[in-house]
Amino acid sequence: MSRRTIAALAAAAATAIAAGGGVSQAQAQDVKIGLILPYTGPGAVLSPEMDKAIDLYQKLNAAQIKPYKFTIIKRDSKLPNGAAAKVDAQELVTQEKVDVLAGWIYSPDAIASAPVVNAAKRLAVIMNAGTSFITNLSPYFVRTSFTLWQSSYVMGDQAAKYMHAKTAVVAYTDYPPGKDALAGFKTAFEKAGGKVIDAIPAGGPEATPDFTPFFQRAKDEHPDVLFVFVPAGDQATAVVKTYNALGMRAAGTKLIGTGDIVPDDLLQGMGEAAVGLITVHHYNADLDNPQNKAFVAAWKKAYGPDSTPNFTSVGAWDGMAAINHAVHATHGKIDDGAAAVKSLEGWKFNSPQGPIEIDPQTRDIIMNEYLDEVVKGSDGKLHEKVLVTVHNVKDQCKMLGIGPCAQKK
Ligand code: PHB
Repeated sequence: MSRRTIAALAAAAATAIAAGGGVSQAQAQDVKIGLILPYTGPGAVLSPEMDKAIDLYQKLNAAQIKPYKFTIIKRDSKLPNGAAAKVDAQELVTQEKVDVLAGWIYSPDAIASAPVVNAAKRLAVIMNAGTSFITNLSPYFVRTSFTLWQSSYVMGDQAAKYMHAKTAVVAYTDYPPGKDALAGFKTAFEKAGGKVIDAIPAGGPEATPDFTPFFQRAKDEHPDVLFVFVPAGDQATAVVKTYNALGMRAAGTKLIGTGDIVPDDLLQGMGEAAVGLITVHHYNADLDNPQNKAFVAAWKKAYGPDSTPNFTSVGAWDGMAAINHAVHATHGKIDDGAAAVKSLEGWKFNSPQGPIEIDPQTRDIIMNEYLDEVVKGSDGKLHEKVLVTVHNVKDQCKMLGIGPCAQKK
């Protein structure tokens, strides 16, 4: 070891001790993050959007991360059925000895990982999975993404109040977040005077189904709106295509949904068929705030002018900011899961999506929801125009204490 290295190590150790850490320099410096994402299967189109955000966060925030260093250890969760994700979590904890777990695009993967998270007693940051009750399965889960109850509840309310819809048909991917989307939408829509006249399970998350029979059934029922939730990715493009091919707009039924059906990275590829779609989400790449302007500009500089971050990117970005907060707040002892979680309860951050906070009661995210319309801009490109902003939305499933959301661990 050179004299310069020894001096640098001593200085870093002194900084850690001065910061109240008292941990060894090696512990303080290197934070191992085990990242569970689907690099194969239907989620393979989504995980690069999160990986890019994780890389960009580290590049743009190097000074804020110091004196720590993040090492990301990736594992493929494969098909969205939880089997591989659970093994991933076990390996990351027992073999790689990670300090923190993170990732999870699909809810079944986070649900299956919960017992491992509980046994490991490590902070586990959910960067996408949106089924409400997941955070009740372990006190170590903190969610920086969203819940379907947040977007769907606001969409149900706005469909009645802003769009003046009286009747709706719901089509949803038949797995936990889809069931939440149905419940959230129906609860708010019917409370505001609307009626859900049919609810159609439309395939699972493993493969993109042919939506034609499901949407034809909806068309025949002549609702004012067809509310759809599918996991973002190829399924979203297929939804917009099928709605258009069946001529449902001309037949008087508007397509509405959670923002999962119009992810920003796929929007331009959807073409004219997407113009006029109304959705509710916590993020779109056109949001007009200083954090988002800087985020999108840095993204385009790093990944090319035609590359656009989507809501999964922002869940990962905010997740990295949360981990960075926790590592500093615990003076490097982020492997103390209880202390790491405690440091995040009530944590506030200026995200590209707007101001966010981790709800100290539920460890879910509190954030704005935006009612958006897809419009064609003067640049010839498709954009999201914000029609209504609903501030500081909490997970409504837990607020209302519905079903599995009623039990808190
Ligand atoms: C989920 O499985 O929780 C999930 C996946 C993709 C989405 C939203 C939710 O777009």
